[in-house]
Amino acid sequence: MSLFTLSEADLRARTSLKWQTFPSDVLPMWVAEMDAMPLPEAVDAVTEALQRGDTGYPYGTGYADAYADLAASRWGWRPAPEQLRRAGDVMNAMLSLLLGNTAEGDHIVINPPVYPPFWQIIAGYRRHITQVPLTASGRLDLAALEAAFTGPDAPTAYLLCSPHNPTGTIHTPEELSAVARLCAEHDVLLIVDEIHALLVDPGAAFTPILSLPDAQNAVVTFSAGKCWNLAAFKAGLYIRGTEASALFDRLPPLANQSTGHIGALAHTAALRHGEAWVDQVMVEVAANKDLLTRLVAERLPGVRYDRAPGTYLAWLDCSGLGLERPRDHFLAQGKVAFNNGSDFGADYGQYIRMNLAASPELITEAVERMATSLG
Ligand SMILES: Cc1ncc(COP(=O)(O)O)c(C=O)c1O
Repeated sequence: MSLFTLSEADLRARTSLKWQTFPSDVLPMWVAEMDAMPLPEAVDAVTEALQRGDTGYPYGTGYADAYADLAASRWGWRPAPEQLRRAGDVMNAMLSLLLGNTAEGDHIVINPPVYPPFWQIIAGYRRHITQVPLTASGRLDLAALEAAFTGPDAPTAYLLCSPHNPTGTIHTPEELSAVARLCAEHDVLLIVDEIHALLVDPGAAFTPILSLPDAQNAVVTFSAGKCWNLAAFKAGLYIRGTEASALFDRLPPLANQSTGHIGALAHTAALRHGEAWVDQVMVEVAANKDLLTRLVAERLPGVRYDRAPGTYLAWLDCSGLGLERPRDHFLAQGKVAFNNGSDFGADYGQYIRMNLAASPELITEAVERMATSLG
């Protein structure tokens, strides 16, 4: 079975962001949409709901229950019903947590390079960003976090991405426990985005932070939208630690009310029936990571790719190429579109992010276009 078999013509017929933003001579390898057909059970859930005329408001705890069952079977940890709440999507859930628990003018910590909306929900809502970059090897910098927590602009919250977008770092249980203890000690609200939770290489172990006994001060945001490529269906979850019981009471009004009913049905079907599907995605993505490693070595001297076990994204350091703006160069000269590293942090303009949830043929074509553009 192979999931990335759609022809380029079929992909270009899609009307979503990845395939429509650029003209048809550009190969889009950017935003995190997968070039796969969706899980059949998710399609059935949506189709059957439409056939029933079941297009009203969401009801019940089906999504939360499906998440709890998956967490128990996959990670050996089961959140209790009172730890779970519906959300519309991950970024709005994180924003609601920030609005309910921090004030204008507060300082909020993030780890650049990091997913651009992390910057936007802080700076766009009149909070200040405290940058604690990942280390050169892509790990959390515990000493720098402690320095930030004890510095003059002590933060009130910390947005952690786990696994980390764009580097693909999977944080270890030790790192996660240490971070949670630091946050508890310095009264920093720890908000963890686990949307990439199942997107890990075969054999790589992801640890949900709330499975750790000393991280019960954290709150997690999750959505099946990323792992099963269901971003078209808005739904998600808040999951709070056992010691964070007050958090849900402090959410702003309507923070739980933006879930789409059919979105919740599609995500629930994915959580109940889609583990083999996402694991197959990551078998193919792992092969794509190997392919990219080989192609970069052969065709792109000057580009550095450090293969990482999390996500289907590749974070490529192009500083050896001597280009002013690598992403713009590859778009204009190579007709291949990547995410611009500078969107993940001002210091990362020499990086591009490449989407590997694609066929090996398109990944090979993307590298060929890059190589050709370099002359
Ligand atoms: C780390 C991270 N968080 C959140 C999102 C978006 O999630 P949602 O559409 O549920 O807000 C993405 C999408 O790629 C992501 O990579």
